[in-house]
Amino acid sequence: LDNGLAMTPTMGWLHWERFLCNTDCENDPNNCIREELYMQMADVMVKEGWLEAGYEYVCIDDCWPHHQRDAQGRLQADPKRFPSGIKKLADYIHSKGLKFGIYADVGSMTCAGYPGSLGFYEQDAKTFAEWGVDLLKFDGCYMKDWTMLEAGYKNMSRALNQTGRSILYSCEWPLYEWQYRQPNYTEIRKTCNHWRNYADVYDSWSSIQSIVDWTASHQKLLVPVAGPGGWNDPDMLVIGNFGLSHDQQQSQMALWAIMAAPLLMSNDLRDICPKSKALLQNRRIIAISQDPLGRQGCQIGKVNSFDVWERPLAKGGLALAIVNRQELGGPRGFPLVLGTLPSWQVCDPKCNVTQILPTYQELGVHSVNSTLLFKINPSGTALVTLTYIKEF
Ligand code: GLA
Repeated sequence: LDNGLAMTPTMGWLHWERFLCNTDCENDPNNCIREELYMQMADVMVKEGWLEAGYEYVCIDDCWPHHQRDAQGRLQADPKRFPSGIKKLADYIHSKGLKFGIYADVGSMTCAGYPGSLGFYEQDAKTFAEWGVDLLKFDGCYMKDWTMLEAGYKNMSRALNQTGRSILYSCEWPLYEWQYRQPNYTEIRKTCNHWRNYADVYDSWSSIQSIVDWTASHQKLLVPVAGPGGWNDPDMLVIGNFGLSHDQQQSQMALWAIMAAPLLMSNDLRDICPKSKALLQNRRIIAISQDPLGRQGCQIGKVNSFDVWERPLAKGGLALAIVNRQELGGPRGFPLVLGTLPSWQVCDPKCNVTQILPTYQELGVHSVNSTLLFKINPSGTALVTLTYIKEF
């Protein structure tokens, strides 16, 4: 969507995967969906270097609204869990130098059964603008007929634009349309700043693998439509939770950077282990994600249960991720022959090689004749960048 937003993939935090629809504030005050959760997350994001690293948006997902609209038909927050109201919460988040995201649905109800925006697109867009919303995640549940998805998502896009406020528009249109036909990605890119294509992420390696494999198998369709202003969204980062080993967390981070995916963490930043924090804040991986060329990477091969991915970077650079998909045995070596890469030109005549994962290491100057050996743990990833060196 050509609204000047999301020129690089969006970075921030979104509550869904970690906090779901927990509304039980009596028994679980620390983890329920209420204003304190976002205020605390915002505080930590500023104090603990998240904002500085680039994570900018604090986003509410489903289960924030009251079950009824107000007398004027406006959406309103649950008064018990958001007693100060959404505008105050947005003000608080803005006062920290962060941006504020909210969630709504194109159909008659949200996926969790709260009021949907069908029939209220203009009014809801106006409400969000008045509240100071900077991002809208627009879900696709409870649309009477899938053929209405296109008009619904386009009408909300227009309504947001007409408010005059810059609101990043995050869609799930293709995810809901895929059940019926192949979506029209040219139209989707014109309408949305990013779009979910595939199932919700879970806190498990099998979920990450299925998302990555689906993306690889549809890359001919998906990669060309991604670029500044519009991105494929493989869903949240679940790094720092319970289900992924550290090697698997490194794999998710590396692959989301290669796929030019939004980096929306869903975890508890108030209580995250130092290794996960360092990985999520790794400046070199974030630089790949946020590379100004804005081209999504793709899978270039599968050999010996290794998946090899590449993403072209600005100034003729290249990022490579090699994933060890064998979940058996110990670390295995992968010999990377630079001259056999589809983008071997980056090393002709010479390139500088930097290894970022599993650990940072400068590997020095190489040419197309070099072979580099990477040792990669089961379900782990080696991430490297190649930068072109001009011949003097
Ligand atoms: C859908 C979306 C999720 C989340 C939930 C909320 O499943 O895909 O990302 O927003 O709804 O109910």
